[in-house]
Amino acid sequence: MKFIIEHLEEKLWPWCIIEYRHISKLIGKKNLIFTNVRFKKDCDRLAPFGKAYKESFRELGLPRVCVLDPSSEKTLSRADAGRFDHLAFGGILGTYPMQLRTKKLISGYGSWETRNLGDRQMPTDNAVYVAKKIVEGMNFEEFRFQDWLVLETGKGEAVELPYRYALVDGKPLIAAQLVQHLKKAGGF
Ligand SMILES: C[S@@+](CC[C@H](N)C(=O)[O-])C[C@H]1O[C@@H](n2cnc3c(N)ncnc32)[C@H](O)[C@@H]1O
Repeated sequence: MKFIIEHLEEKLWPWCIIEYRHISKLIGKKNLIFTNVRFKKDCDRLAPFGKAYKESFRELGLPRVCVLDPSSEKTLSRADAGRFDHLAFGGILGTYPMQLRTKKLISGYGSWETRNLGDRQMPTDNAVYVAKKIVEGMNFEEFRFQDWLVLETGKGEAVELPYRYALVDGKPLIAAQLVQHLKKAGGF
């Protein structure tokens, strides 16, 4: 199974690079494809983490693509491992409340099969992690999640992350570098 990140942010922000590097660590560089990366310099920056294309995945003619979309009616299951060769995710920051941007920006175009991972929005790295575990055989019901994360910045302030995080060894899955970045910058 290959994992596609359709980059949908206007720029390749520092948090995108941190999150995309985390995804590469979770699933392996050879399994990761970045698409819709508008500038060659950004493709070059992502090359250490996976293959990067300027084109949208829609233009690449990749076979058996399923789009992961919280608004899909079907939940991803282990049986989907035999149905699809590619799982596509939005490289996009969540909005609170959720605005169905995956549907508007990706799955609403063309006749893609879609699957959800529950109805709560996860950061892209968490969605990739959960999808990978499911196609490897784990049941959705076996996951434990934490909704809403609060990071104390140490300056008497906090950054709130109103998203769903998978618990791995009892801790929310978030890149240590992203925590540092959010504390320093006070947000994304
Ligand atoms: C931060 S989410 C963006 C969600 C976006 N705000 C929306 O309204 O659809 C980034 C990506 O992770 C994937 N994702 C996150 N949560 C998901 C879920 N519950 N089910 C399926 N895909 C999910 C989707 O591919 C989504 O585009």
